[in-house]
Amino acid sequence: MLEVKGLSTSFYQDEVEVKAVNDVSLSVASGESLGVVGESGSGKSTLALSLLRLIYPPGKIVSGEVLFDGQDLLKLSEPEMIKVRGARISMIFQDPFTSLNPVFTVGYQIAEAIALHQGANRKQAWSKAVEMLETVRIPHPALRIRDYPHQFSGGMRQRVMIAMALACRPEILIADEPTTALDVTIQAEILKLLKDLQKELKLSIIYITHNFGIVKQMCERAVVMHLGKVVEEGRIQEIMDNPREAYTKSLIDSLKVLNDRS
Ligand SMILES: Nc1ncnc2c1ncn2[C@@H]1O[C@H](COP(=O)(O)OP(=O)(O)OP(=O)(O)O)[C@@H](O)[C@H]1O
Ligand SMILES: [Mg+2]
Repeated sequence: MLEVKGLSTSFYQDEVEVKAVNDVSLSVASGESLGVVGESGSGKSTLALSLLRLIYPPGKIVSGEVLFDGQDLLKLSEPEMIKVRGARISMIFQDPFTSLNPVFTVGYQIAEAIALHQGANRKQAWSKAVEMLETVRIPHPALRIRDYPHQFSGGMRQRVMIAMALACRPEILIADEPTTALDVTIQAEILKLLKDLQKELKLSIIYITHNFGIVKQMCERAVVMHLGKVVEEGRIQEIMDNPREAYTKSLIDSLKVLNDRS
């Protein structure tokens, strides 16, 4: 469904080129979840943003193809891309505050997204928004929908963000460290929700994290990124049992240390 071929994105600072994503190829099948694992600065977020063409100066997508159902997203006009972004491929981030606007109710924001992409009228969009809050298991959705983002707890805000991302029934959800800022119990709840929704909505998920434990729980396959390149690719268990790169081994070992401590 999504096939990335030879994708490279660079940032240019003082004439110096930082190859944040360097000749990356990967694929995600329909309904599959793919993990993207790597240490900080390995290019995970740049990869995610490149897929949606959300790279701005001093950054630039240098080369490659992002084939979505056979069509190269990098060749679409911006108006055509708007129909894909948020509607067919959606993204959630680590910090819900960057995506939720504090001055509007969550209902307003979810309904806006629905109205924008699906051309629904206000009333339809509103009831769809209530439905979405229910989908992400927020209790009393018809009441909570009138609340502002700050009236929700961190975990709830992340649910609202998921509701917003899924409101237009995308085929692919890109999740960039969506649980990193949450404590472990809430993190586990959000992961379970995402896993359930993946099945329910037949979503493909690209799950970005530095944590192999999460990838193991969430994904069937993973790519490991290091300095902008994919250094390893395969089924999670195979990678964990038999890491080819010393770098991958160190990522897995750091996880073991964490587990031993708790
Ligand atoms: N807007 C930007 N301007 C300049 N350089 C950038 C920008 N965004 C990312 N980079 C550089 O690109 C490289 C990859 O960064 P990226 O944010 O993609 O890594 P990451 O794997 O998502 O890291 P983290 O786990 O910390 O989120 C880094 O060297 C970073 O400094
Ligand atoms: Mg990142």
